[in-house]
Amino acid sequence: MRLENKVAVVTGAMSGLGKKIGERFLEEGAKVIFSDISANGSVAEYGENAKYIKCDVSHSDEVDSLIKEAIKFFGKVDIVVNNAGIGDGQGIADVTNDNWDKVIGVNLSGVMYGMRAAAREMKEGGSIINMSSILGKVGLPGSVSYCAAKGGVVQLTHAGALDLAKRKIRVNAIAPGFIQTKMTEQMLEMKEFKNMIESSTPLGHVGEPLDIANAAVYLASDESKYVTGEIIYVDGGWTAR
Ligand SMILES: NC(=O)c1ccc[n+]([C@@H]2O[C@H](COP(=O)([O-])OP(=O)(O)OC[C@H]3O[C@@H](n4cnc5c(N)ncnc54)[C@H](O)[C@@H]3O)[C@@H](O)[C@H]2O)c1
Repeated sequence: MRLENKVAVVTGAMSGLGKKIGERFLEEGAKVIFSDISANGSVAEYGENAKYIKCDVSHSDEVDSLIKEAIKFFGKVDIVVNNAGIGDGQGIADVTNDNWDKVIGVNLSGVMYGMRAAAREMKEGGSIINMSSILGKVGLPGSVSYCAAKGGVVQLTHAGALDLAKRKIRVNAIAPGFIQTKMTEQMLEMKEFKNMIESSTPLGHVGEPLDIANAAVYLASDESKYVTGEIIYVDGGWTAR
């Protein structure tokens, strides 16, 4: 098993990519803290190697407590996946301050809080994995806050990797293309939009959460021990065009 004796924290883990990442980590032998914004999350189905801790990543005090509680429960933290995120839907002429603050608060500040808390508590090295997006590299109309946040995650990843390399903490990001989850469900139900996505994706179809979770297993495991500051695009070739 590729993650034996490792302890992982995954934010936004009650749905979509975070849930599948947590499940794959368990399959590979890790102990996993599944965290999400709801007070009612449950991981009873996964057995004693999983625990649920509530955390709204846009509040730094909650993120600090999450990492501390994880260490109290499983003894240490080796892997932190800053995955929690929300969608957008507003273009530059219309974006409200509220939308901007909310999307940046969760998708960018939330990632920084997770990185900082991990950096303070990981004493013997570790792997931090941030969730960016193809929209951290290319634009999409009507998603100004989201694109800005995901671009920020790319640079947090580069800067954090340099800060933490001497302490053997690796920092990388995954940049998914369009993946079938709750976040994209409504968009992908619109036939025209789905056709546009499929025809813009060299591999010709949207991805599934497992595609992202497998990349996370690689970055979490020692197989990637010489990889830091890297952004891995799992996008069916979208950004190769
Ligand atoms: N699905 C895609 O196509 C796609 C593409 C690129 C990047 N991403 C990114 O992947 C990550 C996961 O997205 P997903 O597709 O699984 O979406 P999702 O909506 O299925 O899951 C997101 C999870 O984050 C949680 N969350 C939202 N706000 C939170 C907060 N403040 N604190 C803690 N948890 C919170 C939600 O409750 C949910 O469980 C996000 O960062 C998203 O931007 C997704």
